[in-house]
Amino acid sequence: MATKLSNKPLAASAGTDDLGVLHRKASTILKRLRDNALDPGTGQKHGPTFAISKAAKLVDRTPSAIREAERDGRLPARERTASGHRLQYSLAELDNMREVFGTRPWREPDDVPAIISVSNFKGGVGKSTIALHLAQSLAIKGYRVLLIDCDSQASTTMMFGYRPDIDLGENDTLYGHFHDPELLGVQSIIRKTHFFGLDLIPANLKLYNLEYEIAAHLARTHSFDIIDLVSEAIHSVVHDYDVVVMDPPPALGMVSMAVLQAANAMIIPMPPSVIDFSSTVSFIDMARTTMQQLEEAGSRVRPAYNFIRVLGSRVDESKSMHRELLAMMREVFGGSMLSSVMPTSAEIDNASSRMKTVYELERAVTSHEVHTRCLNHLNAVCDDVERDILRTWSSRAGKGMI
Ligand SMILES: Nc1ncnc2c1ncn2[C@@H]1O[C@H](COP(=O)(O)OP(=O)(O)O)[C@@H](O)[C@H]1O
Ligand SMILES: [Mg+2]
Repeated sequence: MATKLSNKPLAASAGTDDLGVLHRKASTILKRLRDNALDPGTGQKHGPTFAISKAAKLVDRTPSAIREAERDGRLPARERTASGHRLQYSLAELDNMREVFGTRPWREPDDVPAIISVSNFKGGVGKSTIALHLAQSLAIKGYRVLLIDCDSQASTTMMFGYRPDIDLGENDTLYGHFHDPELLGVQSIIRKTHFFGLDLIPANLKLYNLEYEIAAHLARTHSFDIIDLVSEAIHSVVHDYDVVVMDPPPALGMVSMAVLQAANAMIIPMPPSVIDFSSTVSFIDMARTTMQQLEEAGSRVRPAYNFIRVLGSRVDESKSMHRELLAMMREVFGGSMLSSVMPTSAEIDNASSRMKTVYELERAVTSHEVHTRCLNHLNAVCDDVERDILRTWSSRAGKGMI
């Protein structure tokens, strides 16, 4: 139920009371936006569904193979809409099909799960957007994915239908795990989501306290063990997943350091503008020295990353500067750059203002053309990353997409 907002202006000398009023008003807007994204029937977001032709592609079989399996009872008989069409298939139903057809793309137990951090200490470069779409794209393809929101701003968590600071407590995030890894265990903070195959460790503002709590711990104990907590948390649950995607905060603080330490692969989104370029260069340098210092301080040498890829993000090819810088980035970074780029798209803005990803939109918000172009770009980026992941799995060497 929408609350009527008062039009009373804020006092000229805004004090804490006024900030309180402002916060309440802003929260009301947030609630409205969130409620619009939820299914009025279930009070939850619902995952994507697919027509039989798309479902068939996703499970690596033909539509007639699906129809046949439904006829002979290997798959449940399909209900029809009033107009006689098969009901669309959910992600859980696709997973069942893959199990029946033997086409699940899961890694073999000996393949090392990909633990990818989408990192850059600059905000607004598209980290959360890429992390979320990548995690969803991999789940759509049938991988078992864990997405960890490590940013106290929690924009990724919000996209799962939570109001992070209202619906979640401090123990529901990595903060709880840091405080009591024995008692809580990361397993209990993992949440199933509306997106089958994609689990979430959410974040909220309280996570920010970790920054100074870890720093205080380091100063007190002179032990860097605490930096390994994210890594340990992931390792205690990673056997259930093919891919872990981490969305770190936009700063090279303690949490980002712990994320870099836990990852075995990195995607660095970088818009082709001079400012973003230069701050990304500093990020790469600082990440390198930080990792070196951690190695020197601890006994453990962290394994090399399986892949590090720079991703041209928020690219606007109508700007000559973007085209020039992008060409330069390709030349300088060579194979360290993903061959696909993520252009700026009105569809991403439009989807996120509805608290949806582009993969969750049932229809184009802008135009069909803009929507399709945006989807194609997202798919190309996610396919490139999938290829990088598969290359690290020895069971896939020489097979499939690689
Ligand atoms: N390719 C894109 N096209 C249009 N808007 C984008 C794109 N990537 C990100 N955005 C928007 O820019 C803002 C910041 O992106 P976000 O992914 O949250 O960045 P970060 O996590 O690096 O701070 C968000 O509002 C997001 O919707
Ligand atoms: Mg972010």
